[in-house]
Amino acid sequence: MAREHHARLCWSVLVVLCAALLAQPGAAERPAADVERGRQLYGSRCAVCHGAEGDGRGPVASTMDPPPRDFTKGQFRVRSTRPGDPPSDEDLFQTISRGLAGTAMPAWAGLPEADRWALVDVVKSFSRRFQGDRPVALAVTETPDLSGAAVTRGRTGFRRFGCVDCHGEGGRGDGPSAKKLVDTSGRPIRPFDMTTGRPKRGNAAADLFLVVRSGIEGTPMPGYAAALSAADTWDLVAYVRSLSDRPTAAAAPGISPASYAAAAPSAKTN
Ligand code: HEC
Ligand code: HEC
Repeated sequence: MAREHHARLCWSVLVVLCAALLAQPGAAERPAADVERGRQLYGSRCAVCHGAEGDGRGPVASTMDPPPRDFTKGQFRVRSTRPGDPPSDEDLFQTISRGLAGTAMPAWAGLPEADRWALVDVVKSFSRRFQGDRPVALAVTETPDLSGAAVTRGRTGFRRFGCVDCHGEGGRGDGPSAKKLVDTSGRPIRPFDMTTGRPKRGNAAADLFLVVRSGIEGTPMPGYAAALSAADTWDLVAYVRSLSDRPTAAAAPGISPASYAAAAPSAKTN
């Protein structure tokens, strides 16, 4: 009797959980995986740079700086997840859709969405890193006013939190440590020059917020989610944006603060 009750309780919990999952924006849009289609597309569109085995050694790879990503290492620049966690499926989908500014990585927004999702699965298949737990998305709090006082506080924070060591006082990527930096493959890497206004993942406020909190894997750029409050992070975003006069791009669909918060019920809100 007690066991029966227990079983019924388990089922109700399961049903509620499933309903919650289906209700998540983004989760429902994802079409069923089409492995064959993904492999075919990868072969015709991506392998020339990323290599047939995903090791970043495609036939034209050696001409590129930065080089195409070696997917077998499982390290990704664009993540909305906790420092140390792999990117979410949505992160990979966004990167494939938007490309990476200032690099050879094109935007594939012209491909149907179902094809881009199929490519997400191919990219993941090259690394064991995705076999673990689902990564935890960082919460993106509502964007505050990023003008005036926020810029001034951000300028102070930029020095206080050590951003200047790498990025330099004026954010030009010429701080005292800049020349010594290397990526995880030992290649020299320069800190982002903020006066260009063209960060790789986009210059929407939510993108910059997530870069600072999540960090950039494979590079010396740390993730500050545990070290800084959301308010301090927004001030830094305000300062970074004040350094370029480039108009700000709208956040891509899926990068809006509301959808991140909704998609991450378990996200840490620090
Ligand atoms: C013309 C060369 C080229 C082609 C074609 C190309 N990529 Fe890339 N891709 C790159 C380069 C270069 C980088 C690394 C940029 C960097 O380090 O900032 C990259 C990085 C990536 C990343 C890593 C993003 C991250 O967060 O680190 C993913 C995922 C990716 N590409 C997926 C694809 C997929 C899927 C295709 C095919 C639809 C594709 N790429 C086609 C050059 C290319
Ligand atoms: C140890 C050196 C180092 C420190 C400290 C550091 N950064 Fe970076 N940062 C980098 C490097 C290197 C890159 C470029 C990575 C790349 O090209 O993929 C970068 C890139 C960036 C970008 C560009 C992201 C993009 O999408 O292209 C932003 C914004 C940024 N850093 C902000 C900050 C802020 C704010 C701080 C302080 C809280 C900070 N960084 C501290 C090294 C550092």
